[in-house]
Amino acid sequence: MTSSQAWVFSKRGLPWDVLSLISRPTPTLPPPVPLPSDVPKPEEWLLVKTSFVGLNPGAIFQMTLVPPFIRQPTAVPEMDFSGTVVDVWHPEGDAAASPRFSKGDKVVAMLPASHTIPTGTGALAEYVRVPARYVVRKPEAVSFGDAAGCLLPALTARQMVTESGAKAGDRVLVNAASGGIGSMVVQMVRKVVGETGYVVGICSGKNADMVKSLGADEVIDYTQYTPLSAHLTTRFSASPFNTIIDTLGHQALYVASPSYLVPGGHYSSVGIKPPTFFVPDFLRAVVQMKLNEWWPVSRWLGGVGRRWCGVAMMNPTLEDRQSIIDMLGAGDIRLVRDSVWPFDQTKEAYAKLGGLHARGKVLVKVDASVGDDEC
Ligand SMILES: NC(=O)c1ccc[n+]([C@@H]2O[C@H](COP(=O)([O-])OP(=O)(O)OC[C@H]3O[C@@H](n4cnc5c(N)ncnc54)[C@H](OP(=O)(O)O)[C@@H]3O)[C@@H](O)[C@H]2O)c1
Repeated sequence: MTSSQAWVFSKRGLPWDVLSLISRPTPTLPPPVPLPSDVPKPEEWLLVKTSFVGLNPGAIFQMTLVPPFIRQPTAVPEMDFSGTVVDVWHPEGDAAASPRFSKGDKVVAMLPASHTIPTGTGALAEYVRVPARYVVRKPEAVSFGDAAGCLLPALTARQMVTESGAKAGDRVLVNAASGGIGSMVVQMVRKVVGETGYVVGICSGKNADMVKSLGADEVIDYTQYTPLSAHLTTRFSASPFNTIIDTLGHQALYVASPSYLVPGGHYSSVGIKPPTFFVPDFLRAVVQMKLNEWWPVSRWLGGVGRRWCGVAMMNPTLEDRQSIIDMLGAGDIRLVRDSVWPFDQTKEAYAKLGGLHARGKVLVKVDASVGDDEC
């Protein structure tokens, strides 16, 4: 039996407090039975040697929030990764379908919470056993690093852009335009609104040039204005936005939005940003989200006057994953990298992400022999 390394957590807390790097038996195929509830019947499974992992704030919430009785006692975090297939298993007989993958294929995957939570499987491991339904081929010209960072943020971004209702010629405001999701939203919405549209990104001044390079016509440096909503009112009340896409979840921007969002315009948000990653603040944020969703929009009934749409990117399909990777392969979107961290410095990488000022994606290089830009 061979062994390999993985980052694991067993108690709740912040990643730099609860993660340990352990040596464990390398996962093998076929997958153990009973099969997990998200993949209940025999189908193609892969063993992937991980190259890079893209870190996501959602994994920090998974470590601080999910109680042990609804997950595996010991779990590996994270969902986005790239790597190389080292073993393939598929059922024979009636259940058999043509295998999609062979040993040596270079791949990119996104594990959904419906798989990571009950199985304890996560991306931050040298080897990941994964159902092939969560995996697509990496385009030849895309680096392992860029591929690993893109699926969850770009899938969320695309859903936000779609649900915002943005269309050609629209004026769109994007909050947290320099983050993992925001940097994808700016690129996607630029294409949707076209030359005649106008995209404004909110970020700190140090990221202004980067956000403009992604397609924003104008950038607002939120660090220069308190409250920011007063500045947005002054600057945009005469030319309000058709839609607002908030990739951070800034309640004060929503409450003031009638001053700079057209009547009937949607305020699409990833949620409400809690002040910490812990349960009480998260529960307060959930209550606020439900109030935003369910309270009547009408100001006569105490509503904000504009519709708030919470976006939940829960269970993307294989086709969804493929279409994002196709966009990356075709150059329609590009990944902005905040930083690349060695596998043994994963806690430091999380500290960077947890500071909420990542500029694009924080990546962990799991396989030190793979070059930062290797395809
Ligand atoms: N609903 C869903 O299905 C879903 C899915 C995925 C993620 N999420 C959530 O979406 C959020 C964003 O995720 P992410 O991966 O994009 O995070 P991220 O990469 O860490 O981005 C954070 C960004 O926020 C910006 N920021 C910080 N404070 C700000 C402020 N006061 N005003 C404006 N911008 C500010 C930072 O920009 P500066 O450095 O320029 O300040 C940074 O670029 C997370 O809370 C995550 O949990 C939700």
